[in-house]
This record gives sequence, C-alpha cells and structure tokens, in this order.
Amino acid sequence: MKFEIKDTYSGDVAILLTHEADYVPAELDALEAGLAGKVKAAVEAGRFRGKAGQSFEYFLSSDSGPKKVILVGAGKTAELTDAELETFGGHAAKAVLNSGYKSADIKAPSARALAGARLAAYRFDKYMTKLTDDQKPSLETITLVTDNVSAAEAEWVGLAAAVAGTEMARDLMNEPPNVLHPESYADRIREMEELGIKVTVLGEEEMTKLGMNALLGVGQGSVRESKMAIMEWKGGGDEAPLALVGKGVCFDTGGISLKPGPNMQDMKGDMGGSAAVVGAMKTIALRKAKANVVGLVGLVENMPDGNASRPGDIVTSMSGQTIENQNTDAEGRLVLCDVLWYAQENYKPRAIIDLATLTGAIIVSLGHDNAGLFSNNDDLSSQLTAAGLAENETVWRLPMGSSYDKLLKSQFADMKNIGGPAAGSITAAQFLKRFIQNDTPWAHIDIAGVAWKSVDKAPTDPSWASGFGPRLLDRLIKDNYENA
Ligand code: BES
Ligand code: MN
Ligand code: ZN
Repeated sequence: MKFEIKDTYSGDVAILLTHEADYVPAELDALEAGLAGKVKAAVEAGRFRGKAGQSFEYFLSSDSGPKKVILVGAGKTAELTDAELETFGGHAAKAVLNSGYKSADIKAPSARALAGARLAAYRFDKYMTKLTDDQKPSLETITLVTDNVSAAEAEWVGLAAAVAGTEMARDLMNEPPNVLHPESYADRIREMEELGIKVTVLGEEEMTKLGMNALLGVGQGSVRESKMAIMEWKGGGDEAPLALVGKGVCFDTGGISLKPGPNMQDMKGDMGGSAAVVGAMKTIALRKAKANVVGLVGLVENMPDGNASRPGDIVTSMSGQTIENQNTDAEGRLVLCDVLWYAQENYKPRAIIDLATLTGAIIVSLGHDNAGLFSNNDDLSSQLTAAGLAENETVWRLPMGSSYDKLLKSQFADMKNIGGPAAGSITAAQFLKRFIQNDTPWAHIDIAGVAWKSVDKAPTDPSWASGFGPRLLDRLIKDNYENA
C-alpha cells in the first residue's frame, strides 16, 4: 500500500469529513462542478445529517474524477482531536480497502488521519496460501488531501515512524511461536542495527555469569536458548538514558504449573511487552529522536519439561534477593526482575518503564480498553497518562502499598513469586518494585488486556495483535525526554 499527501483529488473514491452544521460541504464542487447540489438532494432524501457514526455514499458516473464519494459524520463540530482524526482515518480506510477500488483520497486537516488509515490497512496474511483475489484488499493507494501539503509532510515523518513501530510490534506478536522463539527473535532484533541502533544480545552463558538465575530458571525447560537483547539509541547528549524493559515470553505454557488447554495459543503473544519496546526503538530510530533511550528485552520460552523449574524451587536473582517459585506460571516477573536489575546496574537510567502481558487479573480489573499503570512516581504517571490519551493507547493507574507487598512473604526465601488470590496485578507490581533501586522513577505497564483482542476491534486495530506500546512510548519521549 502507498500513502501519499496531495492538495488535489485524484483517487477513485473521495472521503470527506463532515459535521452537523455543514453535512454536505461545498467542497464537493472541487471534485465535479455542481456536485454539492446533487449530493445535497440525495442526502435530504435519507437520514444522513453528519452525526458521529453516520456515513453516506454517493456514486458518480463521469469518466473523470472520483467514482464514489463518501461523507463521514464527525458529530456536532468538525473540531476533532488528533486521536479522533486517527479513528476517522481508520474508518475511512476500512470503508474502501476491499471495495474493488484501487485508490482513495481522504480529506482531513492533519496527517494523523493518514496514520489512522495506515494502521487500518495493516494485514498479517503471510501464511494464507489460498486467498482469492476477492479476499485480498483492492486498494493500492491512500492519499491525504490537504490544503497545506508541506506541513502535513513534515508531520508525516514522525507519524509514519510511529506506525512503522506499531506494525513491527504487530508482526512480532502475530508470528507463530514455532517461528518466533527466543533465538529467531534475537536475530530479528539484531537486524535493527541497520537503523543506527546498537544491539547486544546476551546468551545463557553470559547471563549465568551475571547471576540472572530468575530469568534463566524460566527458560530452562525450553530447547531454545534464553536471550536478553539490548538496544541502545543515542540521539541525546551525555544525559542518562530512559530505559524501556519488555517481557518477551515467546510462549507461555505455564511450565509445570501448566495452563488449561483452551486458548493457550494466545500465549504466543506473551512477548507483547518486548514487542512494544522493540517497536518503540524502531520508531525513535526512524524519526531520529533527540534522546538517549535503551531498550532491554528478556526473551524466553516457558515450557514443561524434565529440566523445567518446579514449584518450590528457590532461585537467587541478579540482585541477590532469593525467590521461592510457587507457581511456574507467574514467570513474567521472574524474567523482568533480572532485566530491570541489569538495566539499572549498567545504565543508571533517569527513569525506567517496563511493559508486560503480566497478569490475567488486569483483564478482570480494566478489561481491554486500558492498560494497567503502576508507578513510584506521580510525574512519570501523569506523563504516561497524557501520552496514552494523545495516542489512543490509554493507561489507568492502580494503587500500590506495603500491605500488598506483605502478600509476597515466603516461608523459605526473601519472597515468593505469587501473592494470594486477591489483587493479582498489584502484587505482581509489588514484586517488580522490589527490584527498583533507590528512588529511580519507575513505571510498570501491564498490557495483558490490550495487547491482543478478538472482538469489538477499533478500525485502526485490524489484526489479532494490537501493537500496543510503541506509540505511547514514542509520545512520552517526544513530549518529555527531548529538547528539539
Ligand atoms: N502471561 C500470563 C498473563 C496473561 C494472562 C496474559 C492472560 C494475557 C492473557 C502470565 O504469565 C500468567 O500466567 N500470570 C498468572 C499469574 C498467577 C499465576 C499469579 C495469571 O495471571 O494467572
Ligand atoms: Mn504465565
Ligand atoms: Zn506469561
């Protein structure tokens, strides 16, 4: 698919945003002389009045110009937020992707609509060998039509980078777990050196020397070697970096504490936190962000096996703290605690953010519309909340405290890896907090509810994997960690 920006209409379909006060815009005359009047007559015969959620289609038979016009209602006014414009672009693209037409123009005041269209145009069909032509999208080009092409083009550089990061996160998550495992995943991350990112991959030998036994314990039942991949982007000066840490459990069977069978295939997405970090690194490299950022992902596969870790095992983490493994399905925190520690020891980051599909309990709390946010820092929390609202990737903060922390007490070790049945997402966050040094600003984002979803999807979220994260993190960096 090609994405372009122009100041004139040239496509097979023209899609215009309208609103209640002006639901048949005079602008239509720019497409064909007298068109606004004809469309007005057709519109008045029906119910379209520019309301949010309404749309109206008008077919034209002239040889030149568009073959079809689609009016999309915005509601009371045409003053949409950027996030709403993105959703409009998504709806617009969805209306024409498989229509049989090859090109479409979207008239909008900002390139954000084009970003929405590109998010909606994403597909993951590389393993579908029997698609008929009718089952493949017909659309080849989407053009943003705007009065100010140069402003939109400047805006598009950053937006296209953010969408590319999201596409990468989606691709990584959608891949089946026999294809994307810790070793092949590390190879894909290595390819990001092309973008000017410094990539280092540590294997089991190196991580053993570093004492990362919590992470290694999770991967010890797998035939694939556990890895930690580190991505460094130096776009800033000498300042300490922002560290982004991701859970990369390429498949989570639960281990010896085996998960139930139904829907276990979804656990290929248990590397969603790492995909968010990898995608964000791609985005900031593509747009050459003026910030220092290091991404670190722990890549493991949690399998039941004769060599797998057992409930009752005690491991010494890189921090020196010991952990009694009471449930091998609470593996994400065991991976993260060592990567978090490594990040702080090696980078002394100015802030550290981890993302993880960490708990089923967060789906009970927040459903699929907000990621869970946990933090020791109010400023970082508000920055992330604002970034989420701006990017349609919202987060909702949940409480932490010593009474929750107490639930991690173990009879045999410094802590156990599960709390009780209550407040499962919070006790998971309390566990991670035990690996945050001093008062380093830290945020943990539990994305188990938002990383993938099968029903009730937004038009900008067309595949199983949402690709949640890169745009949130990119916005956070753009708004708070860069002095342009
Ligand atoms: N990867 C899962 C969490 C998860 C569940 C993600 C559903 C997405 C959808 C995680 O490793 C896990 O199994 N967590 C356990 C923790 C429990 C054993 C304390 C859970 O949520 O049940
Ligand atoms: Mn698990
Ligand atoms: Zn997991």
